[in-house]
Amino acid sequence: MKIFHVDSSAKRERSNSRTLSRQFIDNLRSEGVDVEVDYLDVTADTPAHVTEAFAIATYREAEERTDEMRATLAASDALCKRLFEADAFVFAMPMYNWSMPSAFKAFIDNITRAGITYKTTEDGRIVGQLSRQKVLFITTRGADLRPGNVFSSMDALTPALKAAFGFIGVDDPTFVDAQPLQFSDQEARVEALKRAQADLAAVASEWAAWERERTGSEQLETA
Ligand SMILES: Cc1cc2nc3c(=O)[nH]c(=O)nc-3n(C[C@H](O)[C@H](O)[C@H](O)COP(=O)(O)O)c2cc1C
Repeated sequence: MKIFHVDSSAKRERSNSRTLSRQFIDNLRSEGVDVEVDYLDVTADTPAHVTEAFAIATYREAEERTDEMRATLAASDALCKRLFEADAFVFAMPMYNWSMPSAFKAFIDNITRAGITYKTTEDGRIVGQLSRQKVLFITTRGADLRPGNVFSSMDALTPALKAAFGFIGVDDPTFVDAQPLQFSDQEARVEALKRAQADLAAVASEWAAWERERTGSEQLETA
């Protein structure tokens, strides 16, 4: 299984989202999945913010683009290619000010591409092109935003991710949200991490079953 693994915490060794995403890949390997990872740290290799040149080039028909426009879109094209080459995505991120880290938003701005990750049919319907892949979002939050808590109405992260990725074809992503990891007592933080680790182990086992089914049917087709 080829996984496109993206981390986006500003923290490094101290980062919970990085630790959890690494543990998830280890879980998959322990389940016997043959994992190949394409890794991107958007805090080190941050995709460019949208520029005027990008905003014009991205909506121009491919055959009408100048060489300069093609050069403007080259890095975004390359990111899209990495998505299509993967069987699954693992996107890990902390919540920053109720939404996503800006480096991950820049990533989304680069991979939401007309004619590539979404296409428009003749009758005007949008068809997202990334419906083949399994998708896991691992989010870490300082507060507890689960239903019934004071901050539960402040979650602008989950709907933003669902909308952006739904548009490009991801209709059933899995979310593992570790919370509260900062603004709480030690006991609640430890419990939150344990819950997330247990959830990730369950997701890994589900993905392993999917992989066995997928590769098994591929083998049958080629037999
Ligand atoms: C700049 C910044 C903004 C944050 N904003 C929020 C927030 O709006 N809500 C929240 O619950 N936690 C917030 N946090 C806390 C982090 O989401 C939390 O500590 C998380 O576990 C960090 O993940 P990491 O360890 O992978 O960096 C913020 C942290 C930072 C550094």
